[in-house]
Amino acid sequence: MRDTARQAVSALLLALAACAPTLSFAKTAGCDKTVAAADIGATVGKNLTSTNVARSYRVHLPMGYTASTAYPVIFGFHGSPGIGFYFEVDTRFDEERWGAGKILVYPDALNGTWATGYGGSTPVEQDLKFVQDMIDSLSDAYCVDSARIYATGISNGGGFVNRIACDKDVGAKFAAFAPSSGAYTGFQPGGNATCTPYKTPLPILSIHGGNDTTVPYGGRNASSSGSPSAPDDVLATPPIEYWLQGWAERNKCTNQTETTMNSTVHRFLWTCDGIDGAMEHWKEDTMGHVWASQEPTFSQISAGEPPTKIEGNAVILAFFDKWTVDVPPAQGSSTGPSSTSSAGPSGTSSTGAPSGTGNAAGRTAGSLAMMGAGAAVAILGEIVM
Ligand SMILES: *[C@@H]1O[C@H](CO)[C@@H](O)[C@H](O)[C@H]1NC(C)=O
Ligand SMILES: *[C@@H]1O[C@H](CO)[C@@H](O)[C@H](O)[C@H]1NC(C)=O
Ligand SMILES: *[C@@H]1O[C@H](CO)[C@@H](O)[C@H](O)[C@H]1NC(C)=O
Ligand SMILES: *[C@@H]1O[C@H](CO)[C@@H](O)[C@H](O)[C@H]1NC(C)=O
Ligand SMILES: *[C@@H]1O[C@H](CO)[C@@H](O)[C@H](O)[C@H]1NC(C)=O
Ligand SMILES: *[C@@H]1O[C@H](CO)[C@@H](O)[C@H](O)[C@H]1NC(C)=O
Ligand SMILES: *[C@@H]1O[C@H](CO)[C@@H](O)[C@H](O)[C@H]1NC(C)=O
Repeated sequence: MRDTARQAVSALLLALAACAPTLSFAKTAGCDKTVAAADIGATVGKNLTSTNVARSYRVHLPMGYTASTAYPVIFGFHGSPGIGFYFEVDTRFDEERWGAGKILVYPDALNGTWATGYGGSTPVEQDLKFVQDMIDSLSDAYCVDSARIYATGISNGGGFVNRIACDKDVGAKFAAFAPSSGAYTGFQPGGNATCTPYKTPLPILSIHGGNDTTVPYGGRNASSSGSPSAPDDVLATPPIEYWLQGWAERNKCTNQTETTMNSTVHRFLWTCDGIDGAMEHWKEDTMGHVWASQEPTFSQISAGEPPTKIEGNAVILAFFDKWTVDVPPAQGSSTGPSSTSSAGPSGTSSTGAPSGTGNAAGRTAGSLAMMGAGAAVAILGEIVM
């Protein structure tokens, strides 16, 4: 009986794989590879050669990592000038209260600055290829849930997150994006940046301080000292509302709602191509150019600023947990802020595995639910548990 059941499930799996090209299985080649015990719950430095250039990044594996569980991956891109380690210690995503069940990746830019197509010395294609190469390398070394790879970043790193989102090839590896205090150079009025996301809507959440003087909320025009050695002293960045409008159009968003909390925190939500909350924006009127956290961060301390009212890590992780590469969450019966205000994928699927646990079963259930709960339960029982 058992063998018969197994054969039936295998046949069903093959049939599903053949007739459902969008059904992506979570696990990568690294799923059968054990890692050094000392690397678990720790951060290790990695090197690779990409477009003939030596690159480096840091990888943090969660406590309890096992090669039989497929883990979501979060890339964190530092600001400029910077290195991945700064973003790691500034955001504290490694801590179990945030990063449990997730692989955190902190890449280093060449010369401290990410390419966005404007300024800097690195061609944007080169940095995009580096991202692709890191994903390939991570997928080979670790057990990665390839449908749950995410990108966040600050300032120039936020601008690069936007650049990845706008790339239909490398962007397609990511389920959702969350730039913070982003310098979206090239996307200002009259800018020449192009944006060709791989799907509509593309889930994107942004955070920006209303009191940011480095990347002002209202945008800034380019200015130069005129010195030949510093032709790009200050690069133009768009008014954030203009940048949001661009995404709202690409994402076919309507029904913008605004909820104000604690008098200075504004949460904006959109329904995009019928999907509630696919686009989200948080503005904190008093926040400057820092990582949003209710506890002091290094970026806040160095800017001489108090903690912010927003807990950026919580906002970002709750958003990421809602999205996979190919499966939008099921729609609740209501729309607007209330339906999306809770963390986690409310109504993702009837099998409802908790979010944020790196639980491959939860994600796969979400995919398979579209094909019938009965088949999903049978398959999950056999291959995932
Ligand atoms: C990566 O390369 C740097 C030099 O560029 C070296 O210092 C470091 O030890 C290398 N790390 C690993 C893990 O190989
Ligand atoms: C790094 O920046 C310096 C000065 O800003 C420049 O001269 C150098 O070519 C850059 N190096 C690389 C690898 O881009
Ligand atoms: C866009 O403008 C920037 C800044 O002027 C320039 O460096 C870049 O080459 C332009 N890109 C394209 C594709 O025209
Ligand atoms: C940038 O320049 C344009 C055209 O001169 C002007 O309309 C706009 O207000 C300026 N933006 C900022 C943020 O100064
Ligand atoms: C969203 O916008 C559409 C089109 O304007 C409208 O039909 C619908 O009622 C709106 N939904 C909500 C929840 O406001
Ligand atoms: C903006 O920041 C400046 C300098 O940090 C501070 O003095 C000012 O009170 C802030 N404004 C608001 C509205 O928070
Ligand atoms: C903001 O308001 C919420 C309740 O609406 C409260 O729980 C939170 O502590 C407040 N945060 C700050 C920093 O005042």
